[in-house]
Amino acid sequence: MAASTVSSSKTSPPLLLANIGQLLTLRAPGKSAGPRRGPELNDVGIVEDAAVLCAHGEILAAGKQRDVLRHPFLKKNKKKTIEHDCGGKVVLPGWVDSHTHLIFAAPRLVDFEKRIAGASYEEIAAAGGGIRSSVEGVRKASKKALADIAHASLERMAAQGTTTVEAKSGYGLSVEAELKSLEAIREAAARWPGTVVPTLLGAHAVPKEFQGKPEKYLREVCEKMVPQAAARKLAEFVDVFCDRGAFSLGDTERVFEAAGKHGLGVRAHVCQLTPSELWPLLPYNPASFDHMDQVMEEDIPQLARRPTVATLLPAANCFLGLEDYPPARRLISAGVAVALATDYNPGTAPTTSMPLVLSLACTQMQMTPAEAIAAATINGAHALRLEASKGSVEAGKDADLAVYDVSDYREIPYWLAGDRCAATILKGCLTRKPS
Ligand code: NIG
Ligand code: FE
Repeated sequence: MAASTVSSSKTSPPLLLANIGQLLTLRAPGKSAGPRRGPELNDVGIVEDAAVLCAHGEILAAGKQRDVLRHPFLKKNKKKTIEHDCGGKVVLPGWVDSHTHLIFAAPRLVDFEKRIAGASYEEIAAAGGGIRSSVEGVRKASKKALADIAHASLERMAAQGTTTVEAKSGYGLSVEAELKSLEAIREAAARWPGTVVPTLLGAHAVPKEFQGKPEKYLREVCEKMVPQAAARKLAEFVDVFCDRGAFSLGDTERVFEAAGKHGLGVRAHVCQLTPSELWPLLPYNPASFDHMDQVMEEDIPQLARRPTVATLLPAANCFLGLEDYPPARRLISAGVAVALATDYNPGTAPTTSMPLVLSLACTQMQMTPAEAIAAATINGAHALRLEASKGSVEAGKDADLAVYDVSDYREIPYWLAGDRCAATILKGCLTRKPS
């Protein structure tokens, strides 16, 4: 979809979003500074007849239009401020897609057809498909080629209202190819006005050349990938695929240990295929536990007391044709902080669409539209530890916003694959879709 970019974030002139029908501020309903839990998820902080004033990539004021129009900055800078008439539409914080496997070289169409013919995700992986089948493409591709593909994905995400993206490596599975993947993330991010959070996922699968020697591969991850990624500031987080057929709880602890030693945050894919106890990982203070389909009942009360966010990824369940979805209602009613993300990847979730994820959360996981929106914005920001600058529309935060061509926010998950995003603002840089 062609889009017109009005300004670039570095030089962006002040921007006034006027005539907003519903502004979803996602401002904290109470005093708690942590992620949203329980009933708090239902409060999206609606302001009607609203406006948002942005300058230097930040939000200067947001609220009732009559108040925003009186802001002294606007009076002084009226001439150079670009006014965008939202025509009564809905404006909300840009989506925070807090779990993506951004770096891969090609779609996995053979796996796709095998699954249609009845093979399961694990059967396909055991037959040489799955994660390992994406490795050759990434190893062969140049950094520039990977960055170009990643940049195109980021542009698709922005066209659907996403302004912050967590981006994992994980299909290189060698020191060289994992670092190249992280460099490609950095290169793509430098060309995109939104925000990218890089994550090292060297512990995604044991590559062919280490078959039967998982211990040796784990040492490559802990002793080479993690220290080098940290020293070169190529990653902010380290992730592990902790599940049957991938890495054990003990392996995960070792990777977390290495990450902590080198000053990197941690997160993990857990309980996607099989239940696993999570409490041994809690002392490492993970930013998020992702998937959580098979979370054990005993772990839920502990999670409810922690800032670790449970990131639910229903697009993977949908694409794999699974009957069951992550247990959002059980987690929310117990007080666990939940986020929603795409899991964009070539094997289980080839989608860049956060609105599709919201629709699945509502229709398959019984989340309300308001809960889904809070999970995809402010709680996504918490999952990336970016809550000070992302995830809500408040003065002082980054000017990351999405304009939806609907008059009621509940229409966003309602119009299935509806593509109603009319404009995205990435750090003050407005990109409009042609109407
Ligand atoms: O989150 N579960 C591990 N990683 C991805 C899938 C990766 C793949 O199949 O390529 C996921 O679903
Ligand atoms: Fe994933």
